[in-house]
Amino acid sequence: MAHTDNEPVEFSSETMSKMKELIASYPEGKHKSALIRILHLVQTEKGWVSTPSMNKVAEILKIQPIEVYEVATFYTMFHLEPVGKYVFEVCHTGPCMLVGSDNIIEYIENKLNIKIGETTTDGLFTLKTAECLGGCGYGPLLQCKYKFHEHLTKERVDELIEKYRSGKYDQN
Ligand code: FES
Repeated sequence: MAHTDNEPVEFSSETMSKMKELIASYPEGKHKSALIRILHLVQTEKGWVSTPSMNKVAEILKIQPIEVYEVATFYTMFHLEPVGKYVFEVCHTGPCMLVGSDNIIEYIENKLNIKIGETTTDGLFTLKTAECLGGCGYGPLLQCKYKFHEHLTKERVDELIEKYRSGKYDQN
């Protein structure tokens, strides 16, 4: 759900207790070090990281909101706008480009009828590009949540989309 920038946000008690546990694992005065992991918790609960969520994180960590924005906007794995249930992040760095990532991106765009950064009308898929995902020998590849899908071809993309649509990847 979208928030306006000033709308307060609350996290679930489960998320709050995980945050507290994390913060407690860092020494006094170094709690900011928990920031990235906390942003992951926020994204897991909310699906994306809104400005009100970042403000709340700043409050929890007792730091300035700008310190949270700096980190959240630097790392592309944090979604700063609402996204679909499944986010396809296709690597478009040199080595993957050389083996056809551009064609794969274009194929996904046409197949899902969305452009990079957009979400399908059914709210299922968002397409993004990413810088090197660390699997350069396995390109073209995409990441969706914590899964990597490698050596993509048009046929593999078709198969992948069907599997996500059918919920096959939801359990693991
Ligand atoms: S260039 Fe694509 S994973 Fe490294």
